Amino acid sequence: ARTVRRDEDGALSVGGLPVTRLAEEFGTPAFFLDESDFRARCRAWREAFGSEADVFYAGKAFLSRAVVRWLHEEGLNLDVCSGGELATALDAGMPAARIAFHGNNKTPAEIRRAVEAGVGRIVLDSFEEIVRVAHIADELGVRQPVQIRVTVGVEAHTHEFIATAHEDQKFGIALAGGQAAEAVRRALKLDGLELIGIHSHIGSQIFDMAGFEVSARRVVRLLAEVRDEHGVELPEIDLGGGLGIAYTSDDDPREPHEIAKALGEIVTRECEAAGLATPRISVEPGRAIVGPTAFTLYEVGTVKPLEGLRTYVSVDGGMSDNIRTALYDAEYTVSLASRTSDAGPMLVRVVGKHCESGDIVVRDAFLPADVAPGDLLAVPATGAYCRSMASNYNHALRPPVVAVDEGSARVVVRRETEEDLLRLDVG
Ligand code: LLP
Repeated sequence: ARTVRRDEDGALSVGGLPVTRLAEEFGTPAFFLDESDFRARCRAWREAFGSEADVFYAGKAFLSRAVVRWLHEEGLNLDVCSGGELATALDAGMPAARIAFHGNNKTPAEIRRAVEAGVGRIVLDSFEEIVRVAHIADELGVRQPVQIRVTVGVEAHTHEFIATAHEDQKFGIALAGGQAAEAVRRALKLDGLELIGIHSHIGSQIFDMAGFEVSARRVVRLLAEVRDEHGVELPEIDLGGGLGIAYTSDDDPREPHEIAKALGEIVTRECEAAGLATPRISVEPGRAIVGPTAFTLYEVGTVKPLEGLRTYVSVDGGMSDNIRTALYDAEYTVSLASRTSDAGPMLVRVVGKHCESGDIVVRDAFLPADVAPGDLLAVPATGAYCRSMASNYNHALRPPVVAVDEGSARVVVRRETEEDLLRLDVG
């Protein structure tokens, strides 16, 4: 979060509020999200892409009614990937026309809800879905705008991309073997569908633009094939999300304007070469918008030095509020947030309170050697895929999300209670 500072008394503050006060008022663990930072990032993306391109925030990174309102106010669109996300978006007043609906196995009920609501686009992910969406649109007597998601044969990994000959994953329809061309053929024949473009998402936490370059080139090649075969120039391409953020000092993220410029140049160049008018581009950043805007605040419960090994510092949350370390070996940093210390650095592992030895928040970190129970620890860059992937493992109560903005703080997602947990139990 951009407004995090270290106050004179040594405590971190965000948006002018010391974490010690925030912890008192909202408890720990909790996510603190810097609203002005979130809005600034939305604006940076929207301005970078200008009026010729659309930015769809990927709701899976983190979604709540407040987030939907901020997106709406800042002029962004929204990518949802489930009936639940769609319901949240609609409930919070996002105009349906600004919603894109994703997913590799949308249920007929979800599709119906989306078509009825009038979502701006449904991204078709399989041959079955082409027929399913067309059928539902027919029944409802509408023509549903759709894109076809293709797998371009580029697999993006952290810091790099690997071009694969065979796409061995569940998303999209392969360009290889003429599959995507066949999908276009079928979609164009169906009255219920208005095929507006091609979609490609190559992966997540990517720093290298080369993967997008390959992806854009292959998508444009498909547009050219479609024009040659059907005499139709599809007006849009969506290059997905996936832009990386800094979790540690090794990560080197790009600014939205650099990304917009690079993508714009690639698409324009490829289209010129193919003799196509440049289509309208859209992108779907999730992590790059919300990731850096929030941090998690934990309280230390125990400090366990293991002779000759390392010191385990246990906090009051863990894999139930941040599964990314256990799931992806993700790296985070941590700092002592409630005070400064003159004690030297000590190598620690910050772990949670779950019944699982893989319950690690930060695998290797240095904290002052006098870190003690009652200290507050801040783990930055937890805005994306932490609260949204939170679980009730061990009947943990999922933490609140508190929006902090210029000296004020308010809960936008409240902490779960034991009543919330018990409410689902029947009998
Ligand atoms: N568009 C599509 C079609 C996607 O599947 C995704 C992410 C995005 C956009 C947004 O990607 P982003 O800009 O946030 O990287 N849980 C993982 C990330 C999974 C992302 C899945 N799809 C994590 O915690 O790193």
